[in-house]
Amino acid sequence: MDKYIIRGENRLHGTVDISGAKNAVVAILPATVLAGDVCRIENIPNIADVNTALEILAELGCGVRRIDRHTVEIDSTTIVTQTVSHDLAKKMRASYYFIGALLGRFGRARVPMPGGCYFGVRPIDQHLKGFACLGATVSPMKDGMIDAHADKMVGSSVYLDMVSVGATVNIMLAAVYAEGLTVIENAAKEPHIVDLANFLNSMGADIRGAGTDVIKIRGVSRLYGTTYSIIPDQIEAGTYMAAAVATHGDVTVRNVIPKHLESITAKLQEMGATIEEFDEEIRVSCPDKTRHCNVKTMPHPGFPTDMQPQIAVLLTMAEGTSIINEGVWENRFRYVDELRRMGAEIQVDGKLAVVQGDSQLTGAPVKAMDLRAGAAMVLAALAAKGVTEIEEIQFIERGYEDLVEKLRGLGADIRRVTEEELVIKQA
Ligand code: UD1
Repeated sequence: MDKYIIRGENRLHGTVDISGAKNAVVAILPATVLAGDVCRIENIPNIADVNTALEILAELGCGVRRIDRHTVEIDSTTIVTQTVSHDLAKKMRASYYFIGALLGRFGRARVPMPGGCYFGVRPIDQHLKGFACLGATVSPMKDGMIDAHADKMVGSSVYLDMVSVGATVNIMLAAVYAEGLTVIENAAKEPHIVDLANFLNSMGADIRGAGTDVIKIRGVSRLYGTTYSIIPDQIEAGTYMAAAVATHGDVTVRNVIPKHLESITAKLQEMGATIEEFDEEIRVSCPDKTRHCNVKTMPHPGFPTDMQPQIAVLLTMAEGTSIINEGVWENRFRYVDELRRMGAEIQVDGKLAVVQGDSQLTGAPVKAMDLRAGAAMVLAALAAKGVTEIEEIQFIERGYEDLVEKLRGLGADIRRVTEEELVIKQA
């Protein structure tokens, strides 16, 4: 098993470039299916989830051409099947966006229940309700496959029972060609929802209101190929901002949209960090000890649940006691046991965690329990005394491009060691 080996207590300093947003690209790549034409997507992050999405596109019959490390061309004129295989779907959560995209274009989709990070039960009832509202029939699940089909998709009103990013994306994809008007009420407002709407509109779709809680989609009869550049990753940026605070460093995070980072910026300022905003970069410095604060995660524009494990690490070192209230997922504290191995004192009760501050974290062998939990272990290791070895790094590499190189560029002592290297060393 490959590992990261990190020696902590180096103050990070310098500039880091943020990659394209994972949660935007995993929606936009399936959306290229709708074009029936060639789309060129730029600023693609080089991460495992993108490779999986590209493999699914190739499996469907699309032409997939890598132009360079961050640009790809997808030709969806050559699709031969509307079925996604289990092997690929289980690798990432967002494989279920192929249901909306295939249903939208062909009126048929067979896609397995998706894989992805485990935060407790992750139902998709709102996605299925949306498809049904648009006229699709979703057959009872057989062989782990979701089978959706429609003779004709017709616009309709869909009220989401809870704010769901995935359901908002999937209904937008399914509705682009649906006859008449689709209205999604109580829609998610995340930056990647707006990015997807901008991408679809650049292909000729008619979507208004993305970024508010009512999105209106008027069906069109044709879409065209386009060239589109993915927005910067809000959570990757937030993670490097938190790394600056964790190590009392001074880091400029470049190629970001500061507006997308406001809730993270506000929390870090409350903890005592100094933050300067520029047009496309943010400088975070934190020479002094930080203060405790309380955090409640919420849908955008609230504090993102995907930054909850990272901020928890900062709170273990801050002065005083903090409370974290996880407002999105039922079970997102699985990383706490790993942090305890490093000396953190955190009590969890359901969706609440009480974090005792003033801990001196120390290096230990730990695991990445999921993508953002893994990012939190990296932050803890950067701040800890001694050496930390992190296993299960495949979770981290699903969502962070060149993490080791970017952190080394900021002065971190981090190495990625492969299983073969470990075996040779032990022999
Ligand atoms: C997306 C993000 C994920 C992030 C999450 C919340 C992607 C690829 N992933 O996940 O990183 O943590 O948003 O910001 O963009 N729910 C239902 N029924 C449904 C759908 C959702 O009950 O049909 C519930 C979920 O259990 C959860 C809440 O709604 O409690 C929000 O989930 P949702 O916004 O759908 O998350 P994802 O789209 O899976």
